[in-house]
Amino acid sequence: MSGHGTPIPMTSHASTGLNGTADVPGDKSISHRSLILGAMSVGETRITGLLEGEDVLDTGRAMRAFGAEVTDHGGGEWSVHGVGVGGFAEPENVIDCGNSGTGVRLIMGSMATSPITATFTGDASLNGRPMGRVTDPLALFGTQAVGRKQGRLPMTLVGAADPVPVRYVVPVPSAQVKSAVLLAGLNAPGKTVVIEKEATRDHTERMLAGFGAEITVEETDEGRVITLTGQPELKPQTIIVPRDPSSAAFPVCAAVITPGSDVLVPNIGLNPTRAGLFFTLQDMGADLTFENMREESGEPVADLRARFSPDLKGIEVPAERAASMIDEYPVLSVVASFAEGKTHMPGVKELRVKESDRIDAMAKGLRLNGVTVDEGDDWWTVHGLGHGNVPGGETCASQLDHRIAMSFMVMGMAANAPVSIDDGQPIATSFPIFEPLMAALGARVERT
Ligand code: S3P
Repeated sequence: MSGHGTPIPMTSHASTGLNGTADVPGDKSISHRSLILGAMSVGETRITGLLEGEDVLDTGRAMRAFGAEVTDHGGGEWSVHGVGVGGFAEPENVIDCGNSGTGVRLIMGSMATSPITATFTGDASLNGRPMGRVTDPLALFGTQAVGRKQGRLPMTLVGAADPVPVRYVVPVPSAQVKSAVLLAGLNAPGKTVVIEKEATRDHTERMLAGFGAEITVEETDEGRVITLTGQPELKPQTIIVPRDPSSAAFPVCAAVITPGSDVLVPNIGLNPTRAGLFFTLQDMGADLTFENMREESGEPVADLRARFSPDLKGIEVPAERAASMIDEYPVLSVVASFAEGKTHMPGVKELRVKESDRIDAMAKGLRLNGVTVDEGDDWWTVHGLGHGNVPGGETCASQLDHRIAMSFMVMGMAANAPVSIDDGQPIATSFPIFEPLMAALGARVERT
């Protein structure tokens, strides 16, 4: 929920090696979608392995406010009694999505074609992020939105009473925008078509098909053309949420840069639209192996083993890989600091509108800790110093951004002097067990 308690400063000290099994939490993207699609189905959806991070809990509370029954059975087992497509009730109060852009944008889409009004807010980070990218296409369905200047939250949406289906070419590579349009298309009669020029994470498409919607995806010269037939009756599902590759990125990158490490991360979701970091690490010379490849609940899954990798090299990260690793650039920039030579990361403008401006937040903290970083509007370059040569020793601002906070904690595990952050609280949005999990592997992260 929005509102921020007392900051939790944290310091990460050098580790002599990370070893063992890292059971990271459930996938954040799939967890949000499980609750929302469960709420839009008729009957009971069962979810195993839901991420119980603040972002997802906020989405669960929101689904209750729209009339679904959301129950926590303990141990990551949840159920959702849905109200069906078009069945959302009007919330009595403001919907607080806390820190979560995914939560607010997907929920806006899911209510946009029902004849109800809802007001959305979030924390200082979320209230600074652009919502026009979602409300513009929702207006094509007939949804009205009134927010603050430049389309910022708090914002009120008046759902379309007589929605029309739309055809929309997504102007930025964003799974959140694509998903908002598809969720809105569920309650519009006829076919809603979304076209994306670059493939972004496709969990919404996979899950809509799993819930029984008629949805097709074609690769064409125009891009990925997704066609959804509106007003289906979604059928409740049993969902096993795979572990989050974006959370796995932290113990994996920590193992790769910390001498003496050998870490196994079981059951990682390896959807190709999410796995870009792992290919990039391999290109840099990281010792990663994928074991036991399989499919669970429509998503590819494997066990991932990461070992200390003494010969990391800086590389050119292909721009076309950006969408498949967009949340992993902060921690990649830490690995790049420990590699020999430059790592250039082009095509990443979207990093500037995440929970923080992630290029700015990482560049500032890396520079403080002795690493040279160059940056432009949509690219950045980290000048790697090689193992044993990263100074560390300073305190970075986490800027209300969980991935910035965790990235600097990873840096401290292998830098020459401890690395600190001013506030570790945002970590709870996506990885509430980060501290005990890393400690069990041999990391020395303390609250200071
Ligand atoms: C997400 C999509 C991405 C990502 C976010 C989760 C999703 O955002 O950064 O953490 O679950 O759809 P964009 O789609 O805006 O790039």
